[in-house]
Amino acid sequence: MPQRAVVTGASSGIGAATVELLRDRGWDVLAVARRADRLKELAERTGADTFVADITDDAAVAELRDHLAATGPVHTLINNAGGAIGVDSVEAGSIESWRSMFEVNVLGTKRVVSALLPLLRQSVADRDSTGGADIVTVTSTAARTPYEGGAGYNAAKAAESMLVQVLRLELAGEPIRVVEIAPGMVHTEEFSLGRFGGDQSKADAVYADVDHPLVAADIARLIVDSVELPWHVDLDLITVRPVAQAAQHKLIRGKLQVKQG
Ligand SMILES: NC(=O)c1ccc[n+]([C@@H]2O[C@H](COP(=O)([O-])OP(=O)(O)OC[C@H]3O[C@@H](n4cnc5c(N)ncnc54)[C@H](OP(=O)(O)O)[C@@H]3O)[C@@H](O)[C@H]2O)c1
Repeated sequence: MPQRAVVTGASSGIGAATVELLRDRGWDVLAVARRADRLKELAERTGADTFVADITDDAAVAELRDHLAATGPVHTLINNAGGAIGVDSVEAGSIESWRSMFEVNVLGTKRVVSALLPLLRQSVADRDSTGGADIVTVTSTAARTPYEGGAGYNAAKAAESMLVQVLRLELAGEPIRVVEIAPGMVHTEEFSLGRFGGDQSKADAVYADVDHPLVAADIARLIVDSVELPWHVDLDLITVRPVAQAAQHKLIRGKLQVKQG
């Protein structure tokens, strides 16, 4: 029987690439996001099922849970929906931006986990062979390393990471693996655009002259590989950066080349 995964934040970037790869590898997928037009296009391209939901909305997530319960087992949850708003200082950053980042990255992830965990458990209980369920969450290197202008996003991703780490402790004893994937710089179309309020030149400047930033397909591959390992192997925390980014504060612009002599 094919495995079924739910991917949040599936209408663009890492989420869309994850849906594509899961479908290529034979998974049933429910792709979740707010933009119906994007999901429709993704469904036509990949054959994924889709569900329009805002994960900051209790009623929408309850409807998502009911839809899933009515349409078959759920083996794997990929918490990917999230994002950053602004690069303002702690002093100047707006409370509203901070609230939005907490709403989606922290409370949205918590809401989806709470709603879908019973379904993940049920899929394990109904299995006639050994196996487990998976919860994979995309946090960020920003969860662990502060940077100026990053505080709202740093704090939200750190809180999301703590949620994941506590969840792994609380699920100990159950066959449910909890994986955290913490990427550094990933050049997706919308992440920086969203962060800079739609300013394309500011978004482009983030990746300017970086020799091969990560792309969405790189993270999708890690996500899918992490849930295709034998069910008892839990990758726990995967930190992944482009070679050009040795650390949050050590981003090299320009062509990478070996030192001579
Ligand atoms: N790009 C990077 O450099 C980078 C690095 C580290 C971590 N990350 C993390 O990786 C994840 C994906 O990032 P990305 O680069 O692929 O960004 P992206 O293209 O902006 O994707 C974000 C996705 O989240 C969805 N989303 C946002 N708010 C939502 C809500 N309230 N309810 C449901 N869906 C919502 C968006 O779809 P709709 O607008 O259609 O709802 C979109 O599909 C995020 O959690 C981000 O924080 C990104």
